[in-house]
Amino acid sequence: MITCKHCAGSGLIIKTDFLGSRNNLVRAVPCVCVQNKLKQAIYAKAGLTYLLRQCTFDHFDLKYYATNKLDEVKGISYAKTAQLTYQAAKEFVVNFSKNPYITGLLLTGPVGSGKTFLAACIANSVLQQGGRVLFVVVPDWLDQIRSTYNPQNTNQVRREAPLTEQDLMAEAREVPLLILDDLGAHNYTDWTKNKLYSIINYRLNHQLATIVTTNLMDEITDHLGERTTSRLYQMCKLYRLLVDVDVRYASKLKKI
Ligand SMILES: Nc1ncnc2c1ncn2[C@@H]1O[C@H](COP(=O)(O)OP(=O)(O)OP(=O)(O)O)[C@@H](O)[C@H]1O
Ligand SMILES: [Mg+2]
Ligand SMILES: [Zn+2]
Repeated sequence: MITCKHCAGSGLIIKTDFLGSRNNLVRAVPCVCVQNKLKQAIYAKAGLTYLLRQCTFDHFDLKYYATNKLDEVKGISYAKTAQLTYQAAKEFVVNFSKNPYITGLLLTGPVGSGKTFLAACIANSVLQQGGRVLFVVVPDWLDQIRSTYNPQNTNQVRREAPLTEQDLMAEAREVPLLILDDLGAHNYTDWTKNKLYSIINYRLNHQLATIVTTNLMDEITDHLGERTTSRLYQMCKLYRLLVDVDVRYASKLKKI
């Protein structure tokens, strides 16, 4: 372990305020390393990995969305669709800071269209404003719940993760802002459907804000069931991010 060069591991810095020749004030203040550790803990508890922490509205680039391709459903270009989605995400953050009991967002679109990026932008902004958020990658979260059924299994996704299914469920039900990333990228059993229904129904009944990202478009009802899908439509505004080329690939092309 590396010892902090500022405080030598004590966590405190001694400061002297010079008030006059006789009345100097000596006080101990928390070192920057303590503040950083606290910040890391807040991000970890929110489920934001290092890469997700880098996603900020300033870095969301609209150039990846074609101006000459048409979203057939809305009759507007991919670029316009992305701009509206980006705007909705920013407005969500502003509105959430005033009143957390607001309608969420359901972000749909193909692989590599920026859904997770935008959801993470929202999470980072809300955290920065001091709000409480939980970013859940749905397939991992379901695995985490499954792992609690096996007491031998210590393979928790996050070190601070609660150990019981009840803890995990309560956290996802009650957090003021829940982000369900990659909903649909998991197997569809009655068990997974019930878990997701339980979370979503609770949040709907308590008017808690929820953001969802998914690849599913029309197939969403087949995969999640009618009851869950209907609730999602009620509690979220629907936005689509459409790309011609997967941004993961497009951003690589740029560098070659
Ligand atoms: N508008 C954008 N501006 C800058 N980078 C972007 C943008 N959209 C996506 N990216 C980058 O492209 C990669 C893929 O984006 P992202 O993970 O958000 O895709 P996704 O739509 O969630 O895909 P999937 O359906 O596979 O989960 C990420 O590295 C992200 O940082
Ligand atoms: Mg994603
Ligand atoms: Zn220090």
